[in-house]
Amino acid sequence: MQLDKLRTFAAQAADTRILDLFAQDPDRAQTFSASTGDLLFDYSKTLIDADIRAALIDLCDQAGLAERRDAMFRGDKINETEGRAVLHTALRNLDGGPVEVDGQDVMPEVLDTLQRMRVFAEEVRGGTAQGAGGSFTDVVNIGIGGSDLGPVMATLALAPYHDGPRLHYVSNVDGAHIADTLRELDPTRTLVIVASKTFTTIETMTNARTARAWMLDGGGDPARQFAAVSSAVDKTADFGIPFDRVFGFADWVGGRYSVWGPVGLPVMIAVGSNAFDAFLRGGQAMDVHFRAADWAENMPVMLALVGIWHRQVLGHASRAVLPYDQRLLRLPAYFQQLEMESNGKSVAMDGSALSVPSGPVVWGEPGTNGQHAFYQLIHQGTDVIPCEFMVAAEGHEPELAHHHRLLLANCLAQSEALMRGRSLEEARARMAEKGLQGDALERQARHRVFPGNRPSTTLIYPQLTPFVLGQIIALYEHRVFVEGVLLGINSFDQWGVELGKELATSLGPIVDGDAGTEGKDGSTAALVAYALRHRG
Ligand code: F6P
Repeated sequence: MQLDKLRTFAAQAADTRILDLFAQDPDRAQTFSASTGDLLFDYSKTLIDADIRAALIDLCDQAGLAERRDAMFRGDKINETEGRAVLHTALRNLDGGPVEVDGQDVMPEVLDTLQRMRVFAEEVRGGTAQGAGGSFTDVVNIGIGGSDLGPVMATLALAPYHDGPRLHYVSNVDGAHIADTLRELDPTRTLVIVASKTFTTIETMTNARTARAWMLDGGGDPARQFAAVSSAVDKTADFGIPFDRVFGFADWVGGRYSVWGPVGLPVMIAVGSNAFDAFLRGGQAMDVHFRAADWAENMPVMLALVGIWHRQVLGHASRAVLPYDQRLLRLPAYFQQLEMESNGKSVAMDGSALSVPSGPVVWGEPGTNGQHAFYQLIHQGTDVIPCEFMVAAEGHEPELAHHHRLLLANCLAQSEALMRGRSLEEARARMAEKGLQGDALERQARHRVFPGNRPSTTLIYPQLTPFVLGQIIALYEHRVFVEGVLLGINSFDQWGVELGKELATSLGPIVDGDAGTEGKDGSTAALVAYALRHRG
């Protein structure tokens, strides 16, 4: 990535105040925003000006972004280290135009599986699919990473549309998770969905076996009360899940991109197949936009370029995702996997070392809660943390519209405060108004200075509907893709998770007490010794 020009612009902009850019250009909010459908992405509260944007857009052409994007949608094997196509977009290609992998149209199978999901989901919702004790009151999804975070996030987000059985998610191998979940449930009226792309993930398989034992102990019938979601359908049979309860997907769907297909089954059971279709259509609408819009108007591209500006050019190590939407509680965690597992890499596609920083640390919490926790550092800490705000124009609770107005006001206040700041002179004046003088005034005023000029973006949408949620998720997926292309990395593998898995396997017999700690480092050996000494 050629960043020289952008670095020069960054140096020139070092003394620029974002607020002054608004004074110079009254149309700045319109000029530095992108929209598609009813979504508006405002990046005007950043230092990006026309020259900087042009230089950022040049990066897209230098990296051959259009060709890479078309290759992805075409089904080329752009996930080179795993030799796979990347086609989660096919899962939301509801209009069913052909998509070929190795010369074969994958759409008939995608649509067939989707139809099977719809039928099964409606059977569960309507009570025709039953457990040993009658219709299903509860569904437990067992999965981790991409087989958990997407459906968890979407189920919470779509709570106003949830009219199916209760949904529960178990991911952690910590027995506390499954024990706390199953305690209140009826083993004869609970459906368990085992979701695992590989159907080998140790956490998921351990939890699945525990759930099966619980069901058998409690008089349930696993043959009727288990379903599986996987791209390894042979392994689901070995586990004893009947073939008609298995929903498969191809290896060209990455785990963290899989919520659109069978991994979204629990969401479909919760909200119904029509609402799930609307979610898919939202994703598809973003695909159409991403493929057609010029770079400057292209929302995923501009979101990515803002990310590149802040991370690779200005060097900000993290970015905060701050949805002012309680139902997007798990969106930051979902984006953590999406962005950090995709772009947390230091080797380029060709094996060379990355010459620029990898993707940033992504973190966040919903507002307004975060304001009373970590915003102190965002406003006055020594690190600049670009903030990505999100908010709906209206909520789902018309009787509580005054709550939503407060929520919106707080969201807008934070981005304004970050940009505007408060100077020492302003702080002094406020202290003087309170009657302070001399040293006391000076000391107190210094603590009340806000440096300001801190960048943020805001994504605003009419209401958090299934369609809008689909748009937002696809927006961020494509953002990650664009950033990955510009970095020259493969966003679709995740080799960095392997070493820990291997070491956990080798540590298994050691923490069981069946093997010694020879060959382990002193710290690991001492921690094992402590655990062995202190357990009952
Ligand atoms: O270990 C990381 C990972 O492979 C993720 O990429 C994936 O989403 C998660 O584990 C779960 O994998 P699976 O769906 O195969 O159980």
